[in-house]
Amino acid sequence: MQPLDHLARYIADARRIAVFTGAGISTESGVPDFRSPGGVWTKIRPIPFQSFVADEDVRREAWRRTFTGVARWVGARPNAGHAAVARLVGAGKARAVITQNVDNLHQASGVPPPQVIELHGNASYAHCLDCGLRHELADLREGFLATDAPPTCRACGGVVKVATVSFGQPMPPAPMARAEAETMACDLFLVLGSSLSVMPAASFPLMAKRNGARLVIVNRDPTDQDAYADLALHGEIGAVMSAVAPANG
Ligand code: APR
Ligand code: ZN
Repeated sequence: MQPLDHLARYIADARRIAVFTGAGISTESGVPDFRSPGGVWTKIRPIPFQSFVADEDVRREAWRRTFTGVARWVGARPNAGHAAVARLVGAGKARAVITQNVDNLHQASGVPPPQVIELHGNASYAHCLDCGLRHELADLREGFLATDAPPTCRACGGVVKVATVSFGQPMPPAPMARAEAETMACDLFLVLGSSLSVMPAASFPLMAKRNGARLVIVNRDPTDQDAYADLALHGEIGAVMSAVAPANG
């Protein structure tokens, strides 16, 4: 049987699929991933959370990146891979999408926001690190571009940061707990477009496998966890998932 046939069979047989996505599902929308040639981390260095909090100049650089769109996270459109995942959710084959992505494209493709579990937050809005108040980027852009002063909270004056989880920043407890529950409840764990190189997010595939689920990895490049997968399919997510996802859902 061809790998695509295996994948189609696994999806058809699955009672409950946990879909786990990384930046690789968004590259066909023009959003660069992180570690492929030309990826975001091949061009700029990540800003650690502690530096952001401690140093106003670092905050200034982080906000410049946000408002110059260097990572191109905001403004892209979902692609066939996102649409296929949305059909898996719509057909009831998957209850939730566990994503490392911050680009809001699963929501934009029609997955109801409560069914998108964002392990690394979301780049389409900001919040205050002190009181948690949400701030819309559109409300912050003009002031920053005019003054180059990193935004502060309109309620408490605290430090405001885009709602992504940076290196060194604590993982959000509620999404982590939901991701673990989905991982333990599934009988098929489907990885789409991740190098599986960043913990603790990358611990979920093997957690599912150890719990008796089938593990499938669809990724252009090999990953360190391919050896544990029931199927590791190296191909383009848009084409692969369009071929195996339900026609409607
Ligand atoms: N189809 C299939 N696979 C693809 C495609 C595609 N169209 N485009 C890219 N890929 C694969 C690449 O081969 C690569 O292995 O997607 C993977 C993306 O890996 P990374 O760039 O490491 O992205 P990701 O795994 O999501 O990174 C995890 O690292 O920096 C942090 O917070 C950031 O959430 C991110 C985390
Ligand atoms: Zn505040």
